[in-house]
Amino acid sequence: MAKILISTSILSADFSRLGEQIQEAEAGGANWIHVDVMDGHFVPNLTMGPFIVETCRRITHLPLDVHLMVSNPESLVDLYAKAGATWISVQVESTPHIYRLLQRIRELGCHPGVVINPGTPAESLTEILHLADMVLVMTVNPGYSGQEFIPEVVGKIAKVQKMISDRNLQTLIQVDGGIASDTLPITYQAGARVFVAATAIFKNPAGIAAGIHSLRSSVPLGS
Ligand code: DX5
Ligand code: ZN
Repeated sequence: MAKILISTSILSADFSRLGEQIQEAEAGGANWIHVDVMDGHFVPNLTMGPFIVETCRRITHLPLDVHLMVSNPESLVDLYAKAGATWISVQVESTPHIYRLLQRIRELGCHPGVVINPGTPAESLTEILHLADMVLVMTVNPGYSGQEFIPEVVGKIAKVQKMISDRNLQTLIQVDGGIASDTLPITYQAGARVFVAATAIFKNPAGIAAGIHSLRSSVPLGS
């Protein structure tokens, strides 16, 4: 059974202590740091610019997993690559030129990821799957942390997994939204291997490391 990766979303971190919180996540076994970029247009929330990615890059050696929830992502990918992103994932709904954009992200030296919203079918990946190193299947409507997991999406994760194995690709499947120790195993069963979590980690009453540990131990061989 494959190892799972935990991508810690700093959207629920205490930003007055961002450095400490990221270091705590790293010491607690986080694999990646997930940065949610929202523009107040593609989604109804406004969050982090390239400056935050640059700040994270100085704090940790972990891969930086940048999730762009913005209109016109073409205008921003160069900036986030320059700021130190390892992964740049873009929403398939946010551009008519997803093919070119995924190629551009790779040209910039980053791993390209493609994101599909709960209402977007797996078939939207048909012509671009080979260009992405990861498919992020959203398990909430993007915009906020702390929302409830949408169980109807699980069938779509399995569909994406089948598309990947039918083509003999190594593409990772990531899930994001409402991931906790009860929902993680369901998405794992369907094929997800990279798990984004904000609330389950930063709002865990027992602390950040305990939050990561409880996610990991929700599946066999999670560590
Ligand atoms: C939602 C973001 C998520 C969010 C997850 O639009 O993409 O990364 O931070 O938060 P939780 O884990 O609280 O659902
Ligand atoms: Zn995200």
